Amino acid sequence: MPMTFHQIHTHFVAEVSGVDLSAPITSEEAQIIENAINRYGVLVFREQSISDAQQASFSRHFGALEVPGLKTNITKAKNRRLGKFMADISNLDRAHNILDSESRQRMFNLGNRFWHSDSSYRAIPAKLSLLSARVVPQHGGQTQFADMCAAYDALDAKLKKEIDGLVCEHSLLYSRGRLGFGDFTKEEERNFRPVHQTLVRVHPASGRRSLFLSAHAGQIVGWPTPVARVLLEELTEFATQAQFVYTHHWRPFDLVIWDNRRTMHRARRFDDANQVRDMRRTTVAGEAPTVAKQPNNITDA
Ligand SMILES: [Fe+2]
Repeated sequence: MPMTFHQIHTHFVAEVSGVDLSAPITSEEAQIIENAINRYGVLVFREQSISDAQQASFSRHFGALEVPGLKTNITKAKNRRLGKFMADISNLDRAHNILDSESRQRMFNLGNRFWHSDSSYRAIPAKLSLLSARVVPQHGGQTQFADMCAAYDALDAKLKKEIDGLVCEHSLLYSRGRLGFGDFTKEEERNFRPVHQTLVRVHPASGRRSLFLSAHAGQIVGWPTPVARVLLEELTEFATQAQFVYTHHWRPFDLVIWDNRRTMHRARRFDDANQVRDMRRTTVAGEAPTVAKQPNNITDA
C-alpha cells in the first residue's frame, strides 16, 4: 500500500497512512517522508505501536539524534527512566510512578506548556522532533502547533522590515524564569548561558521565511529588555492566533513529527497529579546555527 498524505489543516499538518514504523523503512520511503515534512511542517501517524529502539532507528533516517538533558541537567543520568536518546516527556519517575507534586522536575517540565521550539536554547537548535504517545490522559494533555511560516507571511510589510535582521537571545533562564524559577545552581547558570538565534529564519529546504520565536527567547540583542519583551510577546500573540494553530488530540500509539525550523508547539494542561501521560521524544539535531557568530562564551551546541 503506497504512503498517502492527507492535509488536515489549512496551512500545514498532514495525516500519513500506508506505512508501518515498527518495521524498517527504505531510504526512498524516508525521503518521501522528509519531503512531506518540508512541505507540511507537522505529520501525524496513527496506530504506530513502536518500541524506543524502533523510534530511534526510524528517527535516524532524518539526521543525528540529540542527547537530551545535557543542558537542562534536571534529570541526572542515574535517575533517567529512558535510554540515552529518548527525551522523557512524561510525568513519571524512574520507577514509573507519577512525580511527586512538589518535585523540581515536575515544576521544570511545566515549561512545556509555553509556546516554544525545541532546543532553541542550543547554539544549533533542533531540526525535527518525533513524539510517540504510549499512555495518554483521559482529559487534556493535547499538543498544539503553530505554523510560523504562515504567521510570517501574514505580517504587514512594515513589521517584516522592522524585524528583518534582528537577533534574539534564547535560554532556559528565560523560559524557566517565566515559571518563577530563580534559584538556579552555578552549574545550571553555566549550562543555560544564552545563545543567539535570528528572529526571521529561512527554511533550508523550502526557502520559506518564518518567525523563530520560543518561550526561551527573552532578549533582542542591542535592545532594552522591556522593549524586546513587548515585541516578542506581540509577535507570539500574532503567530498563535487560531488560524495558524492545529491542536492534536492524542490517542495511544500516535506518532507526530514536527519541524522545529518552522513551528512552535506547547502542551495543554491535564491532571498530572493523578493521570499518566507517557510520551517519548526523539530529537533530530539541527545542521547549522541560525546566526554567523555566537557570544564568546558559547562554544558547544
Ligand atoms: Fe517541546
